[in-house]
Amino acid sequence: RKRVRIHHLRELKQRGEPWPMLTAYDTYSARLFDDAGIPVLLVGDSAANTVYGYESSLPVTVEEMLPLVRAVTRSVTTSLVVADLPFGSYQASVEQAVTTSARFMKEGRAHAVKLEGGRRLAPHVEAVTGAGVPVMGHIGFTPQSEHNLGGYRVQGRGASGDALIADALALQDAGAFAVVMEMVPAEIAKQITHELHVPTVGIGAGPDCDAQVLVWQDMAGLRPGRVPRFVKQYADLAGTLTTAAKAFADDVRGGTFPAPEHTFH
Ligand code: KIV
Ligand code: NA
Repeated sequence: RKRVRIHHLRELKQRGEPWPMLTAYDTYSARLFDDAGIPVLLVGDSAANTVYGYESSLPVTVEEMLPLVRAVTRSVTTSLVVADLPFGSYQASVEQAVTTSARFMKEGRAHAVKLEGGRRLAPHVEAVTGAGVPVMGHIGFTPQSEHNLGGYRVQGRGASGDALIADALALQDAGAFAVVMEMVPAEIAKQITHELHVPTVGIGAGPDCDAQVLVWQDMAGLRPGRVPRFVKQYADLAGTLTTAAKAFADDVRGGTFPAPEHTFH
């Protein structure tokens, strides 16, 4: 199979074929998803939660993200790897956005970057794409702005739908190759998907987006506790791992592991 390129994603949109995207943060997950034919892997700043155990995505740094990006890009042969720019690493200026993006391309070997924000970030997107780096936008509920948005809430309801459409168009005009829409009413997401020629990627944005993304530990049921409404759990890895850990502990305590077949003489 050949490396997925951004023009392939646009061709899928033109053909009306929805495509999947998952997060990945380490080598085994990246290899498995690459082999499973997931065309785009996102090293999300959700690593703040899923890898580092922070309570939100705000604390994670470029220095913490870069090794994860490098691990994922090192592990795939086909998937296009998008590196999420963490909070505070791109908003200050277009220069900062270009400099940070270049680090993720050079040091992380990413194939693209993602950043959060609409019209106000259009100059940043234009500068980064101008520097040769494909940019994925992210609008609607943007977790890095959680405190400004008043918590986890659906964005773009009622009159604010027009602002969301303007944000999406501005990102496209600035050169974004795709736009993530998070927690957006399905009707608005559908309209934006029709108006854009670049693909939309939904997460809690209904069935009419060109693509769908989930955090892999949510998708596979590894995340402890409650999951958001937009998540579908395709496995129960939490249950599987808990059962395995308990069985291992029982075997060790009961003296039945290691058995002769696990033992050297
Ligand atoms: O960080 C992340 O995982 C994301 C996706 C959920 C879109 O931004
Ligand atoms: Na993110």
